[in-house]
Amino acid sequence: MSNLNIFKSRRERLMKALGNGVAILKGAPEQIRTNDTEYPYRQDSDFFYLTGYAEPGAACIIDPNNKELPFTLFVLPRDPKKEVWTGWRLSFEETREQFEADQVLDIAEYETMIQNAMKSASKLYTNLNHEKDHQYKMLDQLRQIRSQVQRNGGGPAGLESIGSIVHGMRQIKDESELRAMQKAADISADAHKLAMQACKPEMYEYQLQAILESHFVHEGGSGPAYTSIVGAGDNATVLHYVKNRDKINDGDLILIDAAAEYEMYAADITRTFPANGKFSDTQRALYTVVLNAQKAVIEAARPGVSFQSLHDLDLRMLVDGMIDIGLLDGSAEELIENESYQAYFMHKTGHWLGLDVHDMGKYMVDGKSIFLEPGMVFTVEPGIYVNSRSEAPEKYRGMGIRIEDNILITKDGNKVLTHAVPKEIDDIELLMANH
Ligand code: GLY
Ligand code: MN
Ligand code: MN
Repeated sequence: MSNLNIFKSRRERLMKALGNGVAILKGAPEQIRTNDTEYPYRQDSDFFYLTGYAEPGAACIIDPNNKELPFTLFVLPRDPKKEVWTGWRLSFEETREQFEADQVLDIAEYETMIQNAMKSASKLYTNLNHEKDHQYKMLDQLRQIRSQVQRNGGGPAGLESIGSIVHGMRQIKDESELRAMQKAADISADAHKLAMQACKPEMYEYQLQAILESHFVHEGGSGPAYTSIVGAGDNATVLHYVKNRDKINDGDLILIDAAAEYEMYAADITRTFPANGKFSDTQRALYTVVLNAQKAVIEAARPGVSFQSLHDLDLRMLVDGMIDIGLLDGSAEELIENESYQAYFMHKTGHWLGLDVHDMGKYMVDGKSIFLEPGMVFTVEPGIYVNSRSEAPEKYRGMGIRIEDNILITKDGNKVLTHAVPKEIDDIELLMANH
């Protein structure tokens, strides 16, 4: 199937689920960075998933009640003066052909067209992620339509997130998605290796960031899939440390959480390694606790296993390990029950991964954990963070360790998309020694 057929087949699945409802979606707005310059444009993930259209200024109607023209795409019209600044735009006809739309209209016609589409719909679905204005407008339109047509008993009964249908679809990746995700993973894995090889004490965190991000772009990625974290020493204990400004000292452990976005899909990799290329005994002890937990969770991940059970296993392994090395004191059951492990491990074991780095899709249904199925992709990322102000034995203070891989559930087990970056102590030391 070509890529575009894939978008069409997703719309067909969506239309079956919509019944007599209509989906009205707005593309992501452009975001100002300073004065009159914008951030690089990134399309809304649900909008992209259903249309493949990645340019700004768009909207669409997917309407199963409209048998002739179920898919209308609204785009910015051609405008030679603006195109000089922002690049050529396709004509409506070219857009229609390329994106297999039933009709392509000027975005200026959007508001009139959605009123018509709403009149015959039993329910209104829209994307609730981005523009508040869009959401208010949808509600207002809904109110207007209902006041006009309620005498005939018509009009949509309510507004629902398109996510209630599409996020379940996004949770199971198809082949074209997995190709993009494997490429994002490969680029990111190579970038981590380059950073490990280049690292020396006295460098700055941002210099490692530059190596990683340069490689993401060099290999055709659009850039980082999320803000890169490069934290040395105590900085590695700050979970969302993104300043990346400090000097790296001999004896520091460095935590890098960085990965590329490729054709809209994210990877999400963390590695932790010693600045000078050799783990100290203390670093080795702490690192091994995290590594053993991470490997055990990956080993356990297969179809039919609950997502929550992976977190439970991870937590138990981390707590047992922290007791063994003298970081926690007490019985594992007690420490888990009273949550005192949260001094050193304060996040979940993983999350779905895809178009969004923290991808859409449920974790729980009716209060019960989701069970893993082939095609699901998620991260496994245990960590231990002992900051310099903690009450821990002194030798452990100022170290943050996380090891994060991306896992695809297959028919009979799993595949680690990010296996190419070393995580065994010997392999990391060998890679760093060879440079
Ligand atoms: N990089 C974000 C995360 O690991 O969840
Ligand atoms: Mn990460
Ligand atoms: Mn992650």
